[in-house]
Amino acid sequence: MIEQRAMHGRAAPASNRAGAARASIAAELVLSTVYMLIGALVLNFRSGKTAIHRDDSRDRRETLMAKNTLSVTDNRTGKQYEIPIEEGGAIRAAKLRDIKTGPEDFGLMSYDPAFTNTASCRSKVTFIDGEKGILRYRGYPIEELAEHSNYLEVAYLVVKGELPNEQHYRAWEENIKTHTMVHENLKNFMQGFRYDAHPMGMLVGTIGAMSTFYPDAKEIMSLESRRLQTRRLIGKLPTLAAWAYRHTRGLPYVYPDNDLSYAGNFLSMLFKMTELRYKPNPTLERALDILFILHADHEQNCSANAMRSVGSSQVDPYSAVAAATAALYGPLHGGANEAVIRMLTELGSVKAVPEFIKSVKAGERKMMGFGHRVYKSYDPRAKIVKRLAYEVFEITGRNPLIDIALELEKIGLEDEYFVSHRLYPNVDFYTGIIYQAMGFPMTMFPVLFAIPRTSGWMAQWAEMVRDPEQKIARPRQIYIGEKLRQWTPIEKRPAPTMREDAVSGQI
Ligand code: CMC
Repeated sequence: MIEQRAMHGRAAPASNRAGAARASIAAELVLSTVYMLIGALVLNFRSGKTAIHRDDSRDRRETLMAKNTLSVTDNRTGKQYEIPIEEGGAIRAAKLRDIKTGPEDFGLMSYDPAFTNTASCRSKVTFIDGEKGILRYRGYPIEELAEHSNYLEVAYLVVKGELPNEQHYRAWEENIKTHTMVHENLKNFMQGFRYDAHPMGMLVGTIGAMSTFYPDAKEIMSLESRRLQTRRLIGKLPTLAAWAYRHTRGLPYVYPDNDLSYAGNFLSMLFKMTELRYKPNPTLERALDILFILHADHEQNCSANAMRSVGSSQVDPYSAVAAATAALYGPLHGGANEAVIRMLTELGSVKAVPEFIKSVKAGERKMMGFGHRVYKSYDPRAKIVKRLAYEVFEITGRNPLIDIALELEKIGLEDEYFVSHRLYPNVDFYTGIIYQAMGFPMTMFPVLFAIPRTSGWMAQWAEMVRDPEQKIARPRQIYIGEKLRQWTPIEKRPAPTMREDAVSGQI
C-alpha cells in the first residue's frame, strides 16, 4: 500500500496529485479518524538499501538513498517532506509540525501514550538491549559489576561515569558517610507519622521535607551544589529508610555506624537491638549490596521519567527525588515484588498454579514479576537474583514460596501465552522472596529499591539539568472533549450526565 501511494504521488502532476489526495482522504475518513491521521502519510524509509521509488530522476533517487532521511508525502496536500533520521534511529517529533494543510493548521503531532516509542532524552548512563537481555551501567555489564564491585563503587560509576580508583573510592566513601546522619528535626518529623504508616509513604514525605532543610539545593546549575545534594541523598536514604521501618515496629531509631559498610550500616540501623554494636552477617550484607547494585539504575523507567519530568521545572532535587520515590511506590514499578509475594502467598502451594495460570491467560489476573516494557527476554537482573536466593537461604533457611515461584516460572517459560507475549521473569520475581527470607516486611520492599535507585535518579537528573536541549517537560494532548458551550445559571441546568467516560469509561 505504501509503495502504491508513493508511485501515485510520483506519476501525477501536482494539481492532480492534490485532487487524488483529497479523494484518498475522503475514503479514509470513512474508515476511521486515526487511519486518516496515520494512513494519509506515506513513510518511505530511506536508510541504506531500503529506498522506495519516488522520483523519476535516477540521480535524485541515488542521492536520497545515500541520505539518512525519512521522506514523507502528506496525501492531504500532496506535499513532500524530508526529515533527518538522527542518532539512535530517531526523528525529531517537532519536525512533524512542519507538516500542515495550511497556515492555520497546528501541524502534525505524534500520539504516544505511555511513551512506548518516544525517546525523551539522550543519555549516557544505562544501556539496555531488551531483546538480548543486556544491561550495562556506563558500559559495564551488570553481571561483572554484581560479581566484582560493591554498591558505593557502582553508585560512583553511575553518578560520575567512571569506576573510581582506590584514592577516589576512599574519598567518595568518606563523603557519603559524612552524610549518613540527618537533622534531629527530620527525626521528629518522622516520629509524627501514624504508628501504622506505610514506610514508603513516610519515605516520600520525608525526602520531600528534606528540601526545606537544604535551601542551597535550589542552586541546581551549580556543580558543587549538585555534587553535595547527591552525596547527601545517597548518604541519608538508608537512614530515613531504616527509621521508617523502626517506626512501623515501634522501635527506637538507630543512628548510623560509619565503621560498617554501606549495606552493613543499613542492616544495623534496621535490626540493632540492645547489643553495643551490630555485626551484620557477611553473606546477607553482601547479598543486600548486590541487590543494591542491581537496582542502581534502569534508564528511562517510570520513576526516572518522574525525576526528569519534575526536575525539568528546575525544582530542587529533594522534591524531584520525592516524586521519583512516589512513582516507585506503585505496584507496576517498585511495588511489584510486594505484589509477587501476595500472589505467591495467595496461591499457597504448587497445586494452585495450573488454575492460576488459566486465569492469567483468560486476562483475569496478571502474573506479577513477569513482563517488562523493555525486556522481551529474561531480565538479566532476575538471573542474578535467582542465584542469590539460594545463598541467602543458606543463612536464613529456605523460603517455601520459592517452590511456587519456580513452578510458575517453569510454566511461564513453556506456555504459549507467555511465550507469544514474550513475558519472562523480571527482577521483582525473586527479590521479594529474598527480602522476606531476610526478615523484611513486604511494606519495606519498595523502600529497599529506593535506596540504591537514588544514585540512578541523581545521575539522570544531573544529565537532564546539563542538557541544553532539555526544557520543562510538557507533552501535548489530543483534545476530544466538548466544543464551546454556553454558560447557564445553576437553576437552569439539566441534571448532569457522566462526562468523564469520554476516554476511559464511566467512573
Ligand atoms: N501477566 C500476564 N499478562 C501480562 C503481564 C503479566 N505480568 N504483563 C503483560 N501482560 C500482557 C498484557 O495483558 C498484554 O496482553 P495483550 O497484548 O494480549 O493485551 C501484553 O502482555 C502487553 O502488556 P502491557 O501491559 O501492554 O505491557 P507494558 O509494557 O505496558 O507493561 C509491565 C509492562 C511491567 C507493567 C507489565 O508487564 C506488568 O504489569 N507486569 C507485572 C508487574 C511487574 O512485574 N512489574 C515490575 C516491572 S520490573 C521492575 C521495574 O522496572 O520497575
